[in-house]
Amino acid sequence: MRILLHRADGVTEPWLRGFAAALPQADVIVWQEGAAIAACDYAVTWAPPAAMLEHLAHVKAIFVTGAGVDGIMKFADQLPQVPIIRLGDAGMAAQMAEYVAYAVLRYFRRFDEYEAQARRGIWQPLPQFEKADFSIGVMGAGVLGRRVLAALAAFDFPLRGWSRSAKQIDGVQCFHGADGLDDFLRGTRVLVCMLPLTPDTANLLERRRLSLLPQGAYLINVGRGAHVAETDLLALVRKGHIAGATLDVFRSEPLPAPHPFWDEPRISLTPHVAALTLPDVSAAQIAEKIVALERGEAVADLVDRHAGY
Ligand code: NAP
Ligand code: GLV
Repeated sequence: MRILLHRADGVTEPWLRGFAAALPQADVIVWQEGAAIAACDYAVTWAPPAAMLEHLAHVKAIFVTGAGVDGIMKFADQLPQVPIIRLGDAGMAAQMAEYVAYAVLRYFRRFDEYEAQARRGIWQPLPQFEKADFSIGVMGAGVLGRRVLAALAAFDFPLRGWSRSAKQIDGVQCFHGADGLDDFLRGTRVLVCMLPLTPDTANLLERRRLSLLPQGAYLINVGRGAHVAETDLLALVRKGHIAGATLDVFRSEPLPAPHPFWDEPRISLTPHVAALTLPDVSAAQIAEKIVALERGEAVADLVDRHAGY
């Protein structure tokens, strides 16, 4: 069996080790532009370059080394009609829970303001926020969103979730669909975007919708940069309608310099690290799915081509 591996970062060693351990019978070929590559059974990639597409034409399935599949679905029309399979958790859910819980608690306990005060030598306790006024709304109640909601439930925050299909989640007020979005936003003090990027979700968080959040709201975006209209967010932060934003993802990555986000003290940013792909866990998960496919069994985490995630 031949597996074609593409890593944009060039770091292939942990993947080769992972596949050698989990699928020793496989021959793993590292994709390189211009190299002659014999037909492979499976491909493993996150965001393939256009030059790789011809080598995907005859594979039996394409494995995406992330939870989000926008990097490959932009080529949807050029991909063969084979299963496209993403990672399901693979160690990312716990990382997301850490990242979002940290950001929420930083705002709720006003650590962001204490950090600013400390830099100015100010010793001044601030009034505590009321938990009842600090509802957290998670957009995307999928594998990662549900884990984040479960983690936040431990702190007794009022929780809300928004998804495409209707859901019932214990302790979470659930909203769904375009019709449920405005109500979801109106009652959300901390908005956490954990959506996949699809034609339906691109640019969702623009001025009108962000303005539905209550005065003094916060935004945590760990979905994709293209969910948010950056100039609208900046304007609402500068106006004080949005009190702070923690952003892990951006329209253009790395975030270019200059960019006004770098200099806005109420915007905290990280370089797309909220939940990293763990090569060992991920290679083992992909290997398990390959074994299942070879046996003719169904596998989880199939991408719905129509929905785009
Ligand atoms: P998932 O299990 O597929 O969950 C996606 C959720 O979004 C589902 O609840 C889905 O609704 C909802 N959704 C999709 N389209 C929607 C729409 N048009 N309207 C309302 N809700 C919609 O995905 P996941 O594994 O949780 O990952 C979520 C995203 O996190 C990824 O796609 C990626 O963009 C992002 N991510 C970021 C990082 C990072 O480091 N920053 C790391 C990993 C993932 P249904 O439940 O009804 O299907
Ligand atoms: C990372 O952003 C992922 O989608 O896994």
